[in-house]
Amino acid sequence: MHLITLIPGDGIGPEITKAVTDIFAAAQVPVQWEEQNAGQTTFDQSGELIPQALLSSLEKNRVALKGPITTPVGKGFRSINVTLRQKYDLYQNVRPSKTTEGIKTRYEGIDLVLFRENTEGLYSGLEVWDERLGIADSIARITVAGSRKICRAAFAYAAKHGRKKVTLAHKANIIKMAGTVMLNACKEAATEFPQIVFEDKIIDNMCMQLVNKPEQFDVIVTTNLFGDLLSDLCAGLVGGLGVVAGANIGDNMAIFEAVHGSAPDIAGQGKANPTALLRSALMMLHHLGEHQYADTIEKALEATLKDQEKCTGDLGGKASTSEFAQAIISNLNK
Ligand code: NAI
Repeated sequence: MHLITLIPGDGIGPEITKAVTDIFAAAQVPVQWEEQNAGQTTFDQSGELIPQALLSSLEKNRVALKGPITTPVGKGFRSINVTLRQKYDLYQNVRPSKTTEGIKTRYEGIDLVLFRENTEGLYSGLEVWDERLGIADSIARITVAGSRKICRAAFAYAAKHGRKKVTLAHKANIIKMAGTVMLNACKEAATEFPQIVFEDKIIDNMCMQLVNKPEQFDVIVTTNLFGDLLSDLCAGLVGGLGVVAGANIGDNMAIFEAVHGSAPDIAGQGKANPTALLRSALMMLHHLGEHQYADTIEKALEATLKDQEKCTGDLGGKASTSEFAQAIISNLNK
Protein backbone atom coordinates (compact mmCIF):
# COMPACT_ATOMS: atom_id res chain seq x y z
CA MET A 1 0.00 0.00 0.00
CA HIS A 2 1.39 3.41 -0.99
CA LEU A 3 0.72 6.35 1.30
CA ILE A 4 0.11 9.41 -0.90
CA THR A 5 -0.43 13.04 0.08
CA LEU A 6 -3.62 14.30 -1.58
CA ILE A 7 -3.98 18.06 -2.05
CA PRO A 8 -7.48 18.76 -3.45
CA GLY A 9 -6.72 22.47 -4.07
CA ASP A 10 -9.56 24.90 -4.81
CA GLY A 11 -11.85 25.93 -7.67
CA ILE A 12 -12.50 22.76 -9.70
CA GLY A 13 -9.82 20.95 -7.65
CA PRO A 14 -12.11 19.15 -5.18
CA GLU A 15 -14.49 17.96 -7.96
CA ILE A 16 -11.80 16.46 -10.16
CA THR A 17 -9.94 15.03 -7.17
CA LYS A 18 -13.08 13.19 -6.09
CA ALA A 19 -13.48 11.78 -9.60
CA VAL A 20 -9.91 10.44 -9.49
CA THR A 21 -10.16 8.95 -6.00
CA ASP A 22 -13.50 7.29 -6.94
CA ILE A 23 -11.88 5.71 -10.03
CA PHE A 24 -8.86 4.57 -7.99
CA ALA A 25 -11.15 3.03 -5.36
CA ALA A 26 -13.16 1.19 -8.02
CA ALA A 27 -9.93 -0.11 -9.61
CA GLN A 28 -8.70 -1.19 -6.14
CA VAL A 29 -5.42 0.65 -6.60
CA PRO A 30 -3.21 0.01 -3.55
CA VAL A 31 -2.96 3.62 -2.40
CA GLN A 32 -4.01 5.27 0.82
CA TRP A 33 -4.65 9.01 0.63
CA GLU A 34 -3.50 11.42 3.31
CA GLU A 35 -5.53 14.56 2.62
CA GLN A 36 -3.98 17.99 3.30
CA ASN A 37 -4.78 21.27 1.61
CA ALA A 38 -3.23 24.70 1.00
CA GLY A 39 -4.25 28.08 -0.39
CA GLN A 40 -6.88 30.71 0.37
CA THR A 41 -9.57 28.25 1.54
CA THR A 42 -7.10 26.66 3.96
CA PHE A 43 -6.02 30.09 5.15
CA ASP A 44 -9.67 31.05 5.81
CA GLN A 45 -10.13 27.92 7.93
CA SER A 46 -6.80 27.63 9.73
CA GLY A 47 -4.92 30.91 9.27
CA GLU A 48 -2.15 29.11 7.35
CA LEU A 49 -1.61 29.25 3.56
CA ILE A 50 0.64 26.20 3.55
CA PRO A 51 0.01 24.31 6.81
CA GLN A 52 2.93 22.58 8.51
CA ALA A 53 0.84 19.37 8.45
CA LEU A 54 0.94 19.46 4.65
CA LEU A 55 4.72 19.93 4.58
CA SER A 56 5.20 17.11 7.09
CA SER A 57 2.98 14.82 5.03
CA LEU A 58 4.92 15.64 1.83
CA GLU A 59 8.27 15.11 3.54
CA LYS A 60 7.12 11.75 4.89
CA ASN A 61 5.35 10.37 1.80
CA ARG A 62 7.52 11.96 -0.92
CA VAL A 63 4.71 11.49 -3.46
CA ALA A 64 1.60 13.66 -3.85
CA LEU A 65 -1.36 14.17 -6.14
CA LYS A 66 -2.39 17.80 -6.26
CA GLY A 67 -5.38 19.73 -7.56
CA PRO A 68 -4.99 23.32 -8.78
CA ILE A 69 -4.60 26.22 -6.35
CA THR A 70 -5.67 29.78 -7.18
CA THR A 71 -3.01 32.53 -7.12
CA PRO A 72 -4.16 36.15 -6.84
CA VAL A 73 -3.14 38.34 -9.81
CA GLY A 74 -0.78 41.29 -9.24
CA LYS A 75 -1.06 41.40 -5.45
CA GLY A 76 -1.59 39.04 -2.54
CA PHE A 77 0.31 35.90 -1.63
CA ARG A 78 2.98 34.23 -3.74
CA SER A 79 1.94 31.15 -5.75
CA ILE A 80 1.69 28.06 -3.52
CA ASN A 81 2.53 25.97 -6.57
CA VAL A 82 5.78 27.84 -7.26
CA THR A 83 6.62 27.84 -3.52
CA LEU A 84 6.31 24.04 -3.23
CA ARG A 85 8.30 23.47 -6.43
CA GLN A 86 11.14 25.67 -5.17
CA LYS A 87 11.07 24.48 -1.57
CA TYR A 88 11.51 20.84 -2.58
CA ASP A 89 13.64 21.48 -5.68
CA LEU A 90 11.09 19.85 -7.99
CA TYR A 91 13.14 21.04 -10.94
CA GLN A 92 11.47 19.01 -13.67
CA ASN A 93 7.97 19.91 -14.81
CA VAL A 94 7.13 17.06 -17.18
CA ARG A 95 4.09 17.59 -19.41
CA PRO A 96 3.20 15.03 -22.09
CA SER A 97 0.84 16.00 -24.94
CA LYS A 98 -0.50 13.28 -27.19
CA THR A 99 -3.38 13.07 -29.66
CA THR A 100 -6.04 10.67 -28.39
CA GLU A 101 -8.54 8.72 -30.45
CA GLY A 102 -11.98 10.18 -29.82
CA ILE A 103 -10.77 13.68 -28.92
CA LYS A 104 -11.37 15.90 -31.93
CA THR A 105 -8.50 18.28 -32.74
CA ARG A 106 -7.03 19.97 -35.80
CA TYR A 107 -3.97 17.71 -35.65
CA GLU A 108 -2.98 14.06 -35.80
CA GLY A 109 0.09 12.17 -34.66
CA ILE A 110 1.25 14.45 -31.86
CA ASP A 111 3.25 12.67 -29.18
CA LEU A 112 5.58 15.06 -27.40
CA VAL A 113 6.84 15.58 -23.86
CA LEU A 114 7.73 19.01 -22.57
CA PHE A 115 10.39 19.43 -19.89
CA ARG A 116 9.96 22.82 -18.25
CA GLU A 117 12.62 24.02 -15.81
CA ASN A 118 10.50 24.47 -12.70
CA THR A 119 12.36 26.53 -10.09
CA GLU A 120 14.32 29.34 -11.77
CA GLY A 121 14.02 31.95 -14.54
CA LEU A 122 11.42 34.67 -14.30
CA TYR A 123 9.66 32.67 -11.56
CA SER A 124 12.62 33.04 -9.17
CA GLY A 125 10.66 35.64 -7.19
CA LEU A 126 13.48 38.22 -7.54
CA GLU A 127 11.36 41.32 -8.10
CA VAL A 128 11.91 44.96 -7.18
CA TRP A 129 9.44 47.81 -7.61
CA ASP A 130 10.84 51.35 -7.52
CA GLU A 131 7.84 53.54 -6.74
CA ARG A 132 9.73 56.81 -7.28
CA LEU A 133 11.03 55.96 -10.74
CA GLY A 134 8.07 53.80 -11.73
CA ILE A 135 10.32 50.87 -12.65
CA ALA A 136 9.68 47.15 -12.05
CA ASP A 137 12.60 44.72 -12.26
CA SER A 138 11.74 41.01 -12.44
CA ILE A 139 14.96 39.04 -12.68
CA ALA A 140 15.25 35.84 -14.73
CA ARG A 141 17.89 34.02 -12.71
CA ILE A 142 19.24 30.97 -14.54
CA THR A 143 21.99 28.88 -12.95
CA VAL A 144 24.48 26.60 -14.65
CA ALA A 145 23.68 23.86 -12.12
CA GLY A 146 19.91 24.18 -12.60
CA SER A 147 20.21 24.23 -16.39
CA ARG A 148 22.47 21.17 -16.40
CA LYS A 149 19.97 19.25 -14.24
CA ILE A 150 16.90 19.94 -16.41
CA CYS A 151 18.71 19.42 -19.72
CA ARG A 152 20.22 16.16 -18.54
CA ALA A 153 16.80 15.02 -17.25
CA ALA A 154 15.24 15.67 -20.67
CA PHE A 155 17.93 13.67 -22.48
CA ALA A 156 17.84 10.86 -19.91
CA TYR A 157 14.05 10.64 -20.33
CA ALA A 158 14.42 10.57 -24.13
CA ALA A 159 16.98 7.77 -23.91
CA LYS A 160 14.92 5.75 -21.40
CA HIS A 161 11.71 6.01 -23.41
CA GLY A 162 13.17 5.34 -26.85
CA ARG A 163 12.62 8.87 -28.08
CA LYS A 164 14.72 10.23 -30.90
CA LYS A 165 15.08 13.98 -30.53
CA VAL A 166 15.38 16.76 -27.93
CA THR A 167 14.56 20.33 -28.94
CA LEU A 168 15.61 23.26 -26.77
CA ALA A 169 13.37 26.34 -27.02
CA HIS A 170 15.23 29.51 -26.02
CA LYS A 171 15.78 33.20 -26.71
CA ALA A 172 19.57 33.31 -26.49
CA ASN A 173 19.73 35.70 -29.46
CA ILE A 174 18.27 38.51 -27.31
CA ILE A 175 18.48 37.31 -23.67
CA LYS A 176 22.12 36.53 -24.24
CA MET A 177 23.30 35.61 -20.74
CA ALA A 178 20.44 33.60 -19.27
CA GLY A 179 19.59 32.12 -22.68
CA THR A 180 23.15 31.00 -23.35
CA VAL A 181 23.47 29.22 -19.99
CA MET A 182 20.63 26.86 -20.94
CA LEU A 183 21.90 26.48 -24.52
CA ASN A 184 25.37 25.49 -23.31
CA ALA A 185 23.91 23.09 -20.72
CA CYS A 186 21.89 21.37 -23.44
CA LYS A 187 24.86 21.09 -25.80
CA GLU A 188 26.81 19.53 -22.94
CA ALA A 189 24.02 17.03 -22.13
CA ALA A 190 23.73 16.14 -25.83
CA THR A 191 27.33 14.89 -25.90
CA GLU A 192 26.42 12.34 -23.23
CA PHE A 193 23.55 10.97 -25.36
CA PRO A 194 24.92 10.74 -28.92
CA GLN A 195 22.01 8.50 -29.98
CA ILE A 196 19.55 11.38 -29.43
CA VAL A 197 19.33 14.15 -32.04
CA PHE A 198 19.66 17.61 -30.51
CA GLU A 199 18.34 20.80 -32.05
CA ASP A 200 17.63 24.28 -30.68
CA LYS A 201 14.99 26.75 -31.80
CA ILE A 202 14.34 30.34 -30.92
CA ILE A 203 11.09 30.51 -28.94
CA ASP A 204 9.13 32.65 -31.43
CA ASN A 205 9.90 30.28 -34.29
CA MET A 206 9.14 27.37 -31.92
CA CYS A 207 5.60 28.68 -31.33
CA MET A 208 4.99 28.95 -35.07
CA GLN A 209 6.41 25.46 -35.73
CA LEU A 210 4.29 23.99 -32.93
CA VAL A 211 1.02 25.21 -34.43
CA ASN A 212 2.18 24.54 -38.00
CA LYS A 213 3.75 21.08 -37.75
CA PRO A 214 3.60 19.84 -34.14
CA GLU A 215 4.19 16.18 -35.05
CA GLN A 216 7.87 17.00 -35.75
CA PHE A 217 8.55 17.41 -31.99
CA ASP A 218 9.50 14.64 -29.59
CA VAL A 219 11.02 15.91 -26.32
CA ILE A 220 11.13 19.67 -25.74
CA VAL A 221 13.16 21.32 -22.99
CA THR A 222 12.95 24.95 -21.99
CA THR A 223 13.08 27.55 -19.24
CA ASN A 224 10.33 28.16 -16.69
CA LEU A 225 8.24 30.89 -18.33
CA PHE A 226 8.59 29.56 -21.89
CA GLY A 227 7.63 26.12 -20.59
CA ASP A 228 4.55 27.49 -18.84
CA LEU A 229 3.39 29.12 -22.07
CA LEU A 230 4.33 26.27 -24.41
CA SER A 231 2.61 23.65 -22.27
CA ASP A 232 -0.75 25.44 -22.52
CA LEU A 233 -0.15 25.81 -26.26
CA CYS A 234 0.57 22.07 -26.50
CA ALA A 235 -2.58 21.33 -24.48
CA GLY A 236 -4.53 23.28 -27.11
CA LEU A 237 -3.08 21.05 -29.83
CA VAL A 238 -4.36 17.82 -28.29
CA GLY A 239 -7.80 18.67 -26.88
CA GLY A 240 -7.39 21.46 -24.34
CA LEU A 241 -6.46 21.94 -20.73
CA GLY A 242 -8.97 19.34 -19.55
CA VAL A 243 -6.85 16.46 -20.87
CA VAL A 244 -3.18 17.24 -20.30
CA ALA A 245 -1.24 15.78 -17.35
CA GLY A 246 1.86 16.95 -15.56
CA ALA A 247 4.39 16.05 -12.91
CA ASN A 248 6.77 18.12 -10.76
CA ILE A 249 9.74 15.89 -10.16
CA GLY A 250 12.81 16.33 -7.99
CA ASP A 251 15.46 13.89 -6.84
CA ASN A 252 13.59 13.18 -3.56
CA MET A 253 9.94 14.05 -4.15
CA ALA A 254 7.31 14.13 -6.90
CA ILE A 255 4.04 16.07 -6.98
CA PHE A 256 1.66 15.13 -9.78
CA GLU A 257 -0.81 17.72 -11.04
CA ALA A 258 -2.65 18.72 -14.20
CA VAL A 259 -1.34 21.54 -16.39
CA HIS A 260 -4.53 23.55 -15.89
CA GLY A 261 -5.47 25.93 -13.10
CA SER A 262 -8.46 26.20 -10.79
CA ALA A 263 -10.86 27.24 -13.61
CA PRO A 264 -13.00 29.62 -11.52
CA ASP A 265 -15.35 30.13 -14.50
CA ILE A 266 -16.68 26.57 -14.18
CA ALA A 267 -15.90 25.73 -10.52
CA GLY A 268 -18.64 24.03 -8.52
CA GLN A 269 -20.80 23.36 -11.59
CA GLY A 270 -19.86 19.74 -12.30
CA LYS A 271 -18.48 20.76 -15.71
CA ALA A 272 -14.77 20.13 -15.16
CA ASN A 273 -13.03 17.40 -17.09
CA PRO A 274 -11.09 15.16 -14.65
CA THR A 275 -8.99 13.57 -17.45
CA ALA A 276 -5.96 15.82 -16.92
CA LEU A 277 -5.77 15.04 -13.20
CA LEU A 278 -6.51 11.35 -13.82
CA ARG A 279 -3.69 11.19 -16.36
CA SER A 280 -1.41 12.91 -13.82
CA ALA A 281 -2.43 10.24 -11.30
CA LEU A 282 -1.55 7.55 -13.87
CA MET A 283 1.90 9.14 -14.27
CA MET A 284 2.12 8.85 -10.48
CA LEU A 285 1.28 5.12 -10.64
CA HIS A 286 4.06 4.56 -13.21
CA HIS A 287 6.41 6.51 -10.91
CA LEU A 288 5.43 4.13 -8.08
CA GLY A 289 5.99 1.08 -10.30
CA GLU A 290 2.25 0.23 -10.37
CA HIS A 291 2.20 -0.09 -14.16
CA GLN A 292 -0.60 -2.64 -14.35
CA TYR A 293 -3.12 -0.50 -12.45
CA ALA A 294 -2.12 2.48 -14.59
CA ASP A 295 -2.65 0.50 -17.81
CA THR A 296 -6.05 -0.83 -16.68
CA ILE A 297 -7.35 2.65 -15.84
CA GLU A 298 -5.86 4.15 -18.99
CA LYS A 299 -7.68 1.56 -21.13
CA ALA A 300 -10.98 2.43 -19.42
CA LEU A 301 -10.31 6.15 -19.88
CA GLU A 302 -9.51 5.74 -23.58
CA ALA A 303 -12.65 3.66 -24.15
CA THR A 304 -14.72 6.37 -22.46
CA LEU A 305 -13.10 9.17 -24.46
CA LYS A 306 -14.18 7.42 -27.69
CA ASP A 307 -17.83 7.82 -26.65
CA GLN A 308 -18.34 11.58 -26.95
CA GLU A 309 -21.78 11.57 -25.30
CA LYS A 310 -20.19 10.29 -22.07
CA CYS A 311 -17.55 13.04 -22.04
CA THR A 312 -17.65 16.46 -20.39
CA GLY A 313 -18.65 19.64 -22.25
CA ASP A 314 -15.09 20.73 -23.16
CA LEU A 315 -14.88 17.56 -25.31
CA GLY A 316 -18.30 18.09 -26.88
CA GLY A 317 -20.16 15.77 -24.52
CA LYS A 318 -23.00 16.25 -22.05
CA ALA A 319 -21.75 14.40 -18.98
CA SER A 320 -20.99 15.98 -15.65
CA THR A 321 -17.63 15.40 -13.93
CA SER A 322 -19.08 12.57 -11.81
CA GLU A 323 -21.02 10.98 -14.71
CA PHE A 324 -17.82 10.90 -16.75
CA ALA A 325 -15.99 9.28 -13.81
CA GLN A 326 -18.77 6.70 -13.49
CA ALA A 327 -18.48 5.93 -17.22
CA ILE A 328 -14.75 5.25 -16.74
CA ILE A 329 -15.54 3.02 -13.75
CA SER A 330 -18.04 1.00 -15.78
CA ASN A 331 -15.40 0.53 -18.50
CA LEU A 332 -12.83 -0.74 -15.99
CA ASN A 333 -13.51 -4.43 -16.29
CA LYS A 334 -14.59 -4.63 -19.90
P1 NAI B 1 -7.23 27.71 -15.98
O1 NAI B 1 -6.31 26.64 -16.48
O2 NAI B 1 -7.78 27.54 -14.63
O3 NAI B 1 -8.46 27.86 -17.00
C1 NAI B 1 -8.30 28.26 -18.36
C2 NAI B 1 -9.54 27.81 -19.16
O4 NAI B 1 -9.52 26.38 -19.31
C3 NAI B 1 -10.86 28.16 -18.47
O5 NAI B 1 -11.82 28.53 -19.43
C4 NAI B 1 -11.26 26.85 -17.80
O6 NAI B 1 -12.65 26.69 -17.62
C5 NAI B 1 -10.69 25.80 -18.75
N1 NAI B 1 -10.32 24.58 -18.03
C6 NAI B 1 -9.25 24.44 -17.21
N2 NAI B 1 -9.24 23.21 -16.69
C7 NAI B 1 -10.32 22.56 -17.18
C8 NAI B 1 -10.86 21.26 -16.97
N3 NAI B 1 -10.26 20.34 -16.18
N4 NAI B 1 -12.02 20.94 -17.62
C9 NAI B 1 -12.61 21.82 -18.42
N5 NAI B 1 -12.15 23.08 -18.66
C10 NAI B 1 -11.02 23.44 -18.02
O7 NAI B 1 -6.43 29.08 -16.13
P2 NAI B 1 -6.73 30.51 -15.50
O8 NAI B 1 -8.19 30.82 -15.54
O9 NAI B 1 -5.77 31.39 -16.18
O10 NAI B 1 -6.27 30.38 -13.97
C11 NAI B 1 -7.16 30.26 -12.87
C12 NAI B 1 -6.36 30.17 -11.59
O11 NAI B 1 -5.60 28.96 -11.53
C13 NAI B 1 -5.35 31.32 -11.38
O12 NAI B 1 -5.44 31.73 -10.04
C14 NAI B 1 -4.01 30.66 -11.65
O13 NAI B 1 -2.97 31.29 -10.94
C15 NAI B 1 -4.27 29.25 -11.14
N6 NAI B 1 -3.38 28.23 -11.72
C16 NAI B 1 -2.97 27.24 -10.89
C17 NAI B 1 -2.19 26.23 -11.37
C18 NAI B 1 -1.78 25.15 -10.43
O14 NAI B 1 -2.34 25.02 -9.34
N7 NAI B 1 -0.82 24.33 -10.79
C19 NAI B 1 -1.75 26.17 -12.78
C20 NAI B 1 -2.30 27.23 -13.59
C21 NAI B 1 -3.07 28.24 -13.06
